[in-house]
Amino acid sequence: MPFSDLIQHDFPLKHLNTFSIGVRAKHYLRVTSLATLRAALADPQLAAMPRLVLGGGSNVLLTRDFPGLVLHIALEGREILAGTPTHHHVRAAAGENWHDFVQWTLAQGIGGLENLSLIPGTVGAAPIQNIGAYGAETKDSFLSLTALDPASGALHEMDGAACRFAYRDSVFKHEGRDLIIIDVRYALPRAWQPNLRYAELANALAEQGLAAPTPQQVADTVIAIRRRKLPDPAQIGNAGSFFKNPVVSAEHCARLLAQFPALVHHRQPDGSEKLAAGWLIDQCGWKGRSMGAAGVYPKQALVLVNNGGATGAEVQALAAAIQADVAARYGVALEPEPVFV
Ligand code: FAD
Ligand code: EPU
Repeated sequence: MPFSDLIQHDFPLKHLNTFSIGVRAKHYLRVTSLATLRAALADPQLAAMPRLVLGGGSNVLLTRDFPGLVLHIALEGREILAGTPTHHHVRAAAGENWHDFVQWTLAQGIGGLENLSLIPGTVGAAPIQNIGAYGAETKDSFLSLTALDPASGALHEMDGAACRFAYRDSVFKHEGRDLIIIDVRYALPRAWQPNLRYAELANALAEQGLAAPTPQQVADTVIAIRRRKLPDPAQIGNAGSFFKNPVVSAEHCARLLAQFPALVHHRQPDGSEKLAAGWLIDQCGWKGRSMGAAGVYPKQALVLVNNGGATGAEVQALAAAIQADVAARYGVALEPEPVFV
């Protein structure tokens, strides 16, 4: 089939974003091979347009029809590499579903990614915001990735230092924002130990009498906690946490604690304090409230939801109202986690 026949026009994106926002893309290409991707980038007409790289669409807020080309990353494949005496090495292509990849590693008898079970989206997007949950982050097990530079067509291999991972952040949100991730490799210790840093997870395992859990038991427990707390995007449109947990100085935190003794806060290695944005929003009375078709999830105030037919603008208006209330009451600026398109 000629390359131009692969491009679809006026393409609906509603089922390609977990917020279920009903916008359209002027042009759309499902990228199933590196050759297809290179062909799209080499096409002078396509290369001149605005470009949106899309994985599972679980961390984007689409605010209007996209006037350019959506590159939907659907590269497939996963394998166990040679590894080292201490670590298994595994690789997956960017379009693989993250949760399926994690479950596949567990089925191969390889533990280490179980705390990150059930996070929606693709393998290729995991490094973008250094996905994290239940005491683990991508960076803890990351080995390297391959990224394509659209400007030069060159493939770059990048290690963890080059990716500059931080809380919900990486180089791909800054200077590396144009790079397209092709595949990702993880190094997982052969001598596995459960990661029970997150108290809620440790308690849930203890309640089941699992003093020495297997990786799969940890995964199953994480999955159960997440199903209890977070809405399933197949039922209710959402993008997970809508704001990052804000980090404030120790002094700011102490001032807040004097006024709000129940404030949820976690000391960071550098002495700063991470606050629970969900608690701040909850305390401002937003939990369960709606503005138009956008709402605050009744079981988790950090999650904004599409109650049906919401536009990106409605979600943005709700987010702005929440930000204003939290800033007025706590002097804390909430930063959105999803990428606004
Ligand atoms: P998309 O939404 O498609 O894209 C996100 C960004 O990455 C965009 O800027 C896009 O351009 C870019 N991008 C995507 N793929 C590539 C690529 N191959 N190369 C270059 N750029 C790319 N996140 C957490 O960290 N922890 C959680 O616990 C968590 N829970 C969630 C729960 C729910 C119910 C939902 C809906 C989301 C949750 N998220 C969580 C957010 C989301 O799952 C992650 O951010 C995920 O990594 C996004 O993957 P995606 O493929 O859907 O990315
Ligand atoms: N809280 C409230 N009310 C609420 C929500 C939360 O008081 O409505 C309190 C909780 O009681 C708890 C604290 O806030 O004391 C933290 O809540 P939770 O454990 O649910 O985690 P979170 O900080 O809200 C973060 C991540 C999630 C991740 C979980 C588990 C961010 C922005 N969010 O949520 O990631 O799954 O921890 O590790 O860091 C995502 O990024 O999309 C996401 C879902």
